[in-house]
Amino acid sequence: MAHPYWPLFDLVVRTPRLELRPPTDDDVLALVELSDRGVHDPAWMPFAIPWTDWDPPVRRRNTLQWWWRQRGDWQAEKWILGLQVSEIGPDGTRTVVGAQDLLGDDFARSRTVSTGSWLGRAHQGRGIGKEMRAAVLHLAFAGLGAERAETSAWHDNEASLAVTRALGYRPNGTHVQLRRDTYDTQLDFVLPREDWAAARRDDIEIEGLDACLELFGVAPGPGL
Ligand SMILES: CC(C)(COP(=O)(O)OP(=O)(O)OC[C@H]1O[C@@H](n2cnc3c(N)ncnc32)[C@H](O)[C@@H]1OP(=O)(O)O)[C@@H](O)C(=O)NCCC(=O)NCCS
Repeated sequence: MAHPYWPLFDLVVRTPRLELRPPTDDDVLALVELSDRGVHDPAWMPFAIPWTDWDPPVRRRNTLQWWWRQRGDWQAEKWILGLQVSEIGPDGTRTVVGAQDLLGDDFARSRTVSTGSWLGRAHQGRGIGKEMRAAVLHLAFAGLGAERAETSAWHDNEASLAVTRALGYRPNGTHVQLRRDTYDTQLDFVLPREDWAAARRDDIEIEGLDACLELFGVAPGPGL
């Protein structure tokens, strides 16, 4: 049954192997437990906010608050859509494997999104990172009518950079940012709508978006 007041709970993006949806409070616990099992080699830091370094009790609480905050702070002018990513097994079972975020700032006018993501270590290196980015780009371009998607990664995050390059983003400069205790270089990329459209997939489905369009700052109207 559709949620009566918060249509984002009914939003689903589905690819042949993955399902992406905003997590319920119980789902958020599953994501916390997934991160307990490790997200990366602790010898290095893939994130700008080093949340995986925090002591487990602090990380768990802060992670819960991060997910709750995305709902509490949601505004059409500025939103972060956090999506739980599940892998669909051959028998239809869903296994939570990670998270994919889509961020919009003044989206009604900027028509620009950015992304961030992570997978549990056990689920990396099997093409899921690429598939979930393709899914969320489909939501942005086909679903929301975005004109531009941006992303960044540390210069040595080979897996993240490979996903970005595989999806056709163009290099868009660099910037420096604090990484643990030292400033380091992030590589920036942009995917213009025409490049996404040239390689558009036809096997990704979006469910429940119409009721959410206003929340994203997109007026309901003819399909895109
Ligand atoms: C980044 C991340 C989401 C990528 O997902 P993934 O499922 O591991 O990546 P995929 O299996 O989809 O691989 C996509 C591409 O990256 C390549 N790749 C994957 N891991 C790699 C590695 N460690 N080194 C080099 N290339 C790698 C694959 O060969 C593939 O390239 P191709 O499309 O040319 O075949 C995942 O590795 C992760 O969660 N890492 C830790 C957190 C993180 O770095 N988040 C991003 C912060 S910017």
